[in-house]
Amino acid sequence: MSHLDNSPPTPGKFKMDKSPYIHRLRLHGSLAKLTFWSFVFLGLILIFFFRSPSSNSLPSDPSRRSLRTYNWGGPAWEKRVRSSAKVRSRHGISVLVTGAAGFVGTHVSAALKRRGDGVLGLDCFNDYYDPSLKRARQALLERSGVFIVEGDINDAPLLSKLFEVVAFTHVMHLAAQAGVRYAMENPGSYVHSNIAGLVNLLEVCKNANPQPAIVWASSSSVYGLNTKVPFSERDRTDQPASLYAATKKAGEEIAHTYNHIHGLSLTGLRFFTVYGPWGRPDMAYFFFTRDILKGKTIPIFEGANHRTVARDFTYIDDIVKGCLASLDTAEKSTGSGGKKKGPAQLRVFNLGNTSPVPVTDLVTILERLLKVKAKRKITKLPRNGDVQFTHANISLAQRELGYKPTTDLQTGLKKFVRWYLSYYSGGKKASG
Ligand SMILES: NC(=O)c1ccc[n+]([C@@H]2O[C@H](COP(=O)([O-])OP(=O)(O)OC[C@H]3O[C@@H](n4cnc5c(N)ncnc54)[C@H](O)[C@@H]3O)[C@@H](O)[C@H]2O)c1
Repeated sequence: MSHLDNSPPTPGKFKMDKSPYIHRLRLHGSLAKLTFWSFVFLGLILIFFFRSPSSNSLPSDPSRRSLRTYNWGGPAWEKRVRSSAKVRSRHGISVLVTGAAGFVGTHVSAALKRRGDGVLGLDCFNDYYDPSLKRARQALLERSGVFIVEGDINDAPLLSKLFEVVAFTHVMHLAAQAGVRYAMENPGSYVHSNIAGLVNLLEVCKNANPQPAIVWASSSSVYGLNTKVPFSERDRTDQPASLYAATKKAGEEIAHTYNHIHGLSLTGLRFFTVYGPWGRPDMAYFFFTRDILKGKTIPIFEGANHRTVARDFTYIDDIVKGCLASLDTAEKSTGSGGKKKGPAQLRVFNLGNTSPVPVTDLVTILERLLKVKAKRKITKLPRNGDVQFTHANISLAQRELGYKPTTDLQTGLKKFVRWYLSYYSGGKKASG
């Protein structure tokens, strides 16, 4: 500031002001101007902060606008939160499920509620894919007594309020920006949800009393390039093939830090291509079904030298079993008041099916189930983050969680197609 006070408006004018009185007047004038503009500037900063619902969130992200519109709080809202999170079985747990209106979140929430656990959902209902599908999942959960709070995991005051109202024993963290290709279009949304949102959630969990145990979704995509199949948790994961993978990998490192410094019990689950009823419209099995029914040509990728693209497709019920087993075997966090009191559990598991299927076979199964011949177009696998082959080694999850997938692709797709046809009533809504 001081150099500004001494600066003349223009060098020439300053030289002509010989009288000390005039000089003082000018100085007062500049001071008044400076004070005035300082107030204007301060006012603008205050307006900015008061209009912003949470000063903890990352700026410059388009999905951040959604933070502003949420409505939460009040006695009626707190009553719904408490009732949804109330444990109804003798050894039940109370779980905050983030991303509860998402594909995996809906299934996990329903399964927890069925066995008498307390479940509260949290989701921002973003429009990465058709939000009406998220609303339909919400209605489904509502009928079984699960309330989904509408909000963003970046909203620290909201998360703190939830932990103030309910002493959650566990967090099942499934909220994320999923999808590999969308990162080319909206990279900020991956940073917002998968990095900033994760850190915000862990900060709140770290300060909660008691600290919850956290199980969260990483991804098979962390294996990236040049990993030999089957992928094992011991393999290197420092060559991510997409920004999505990089944010999931960063999440695993962030989890390590919070475990190490704050004593949070953390379990990361690397899901392998999950499919099933209420699935995600951005995934191939889903939009292949839609496009085959519409008679549209579907692109089938192949690797270099015509090599087959294959995925270790994993049925949703098997994934749900793995999630529940992870919650049930999660040890308590050891920190209190943000400080670690002893070593805490830190785990990473592959949750896959261990039988990769070529994408061409997936299409053949869909053709049979839909009784429609697909119009196939073989296309080179673009270099936008997709890998050619995934195959999970699940021996660690088998040993530690008793995880054992039981649904093959044929059986699982049959259930998916049955749901799809009834949900979209004969394909009518599929175009929407
Ligand atoms: N489905 C798969 O094949 C697969 C594979 C590997 C990893 N995963 C991971 O599993 C988790 C669940 O995936 P899914 O298939 O159910 O995806 P999904 O997109 O259906 O569900 C994610 C949910 O999180 C919500 N969400 C996103 N950002 C949020 C934010 N900032 N605050 C609050 N809510 C937010 C979305 O609205 C959505 O409902 C994700 O972490 C995903 O990366 C999924």
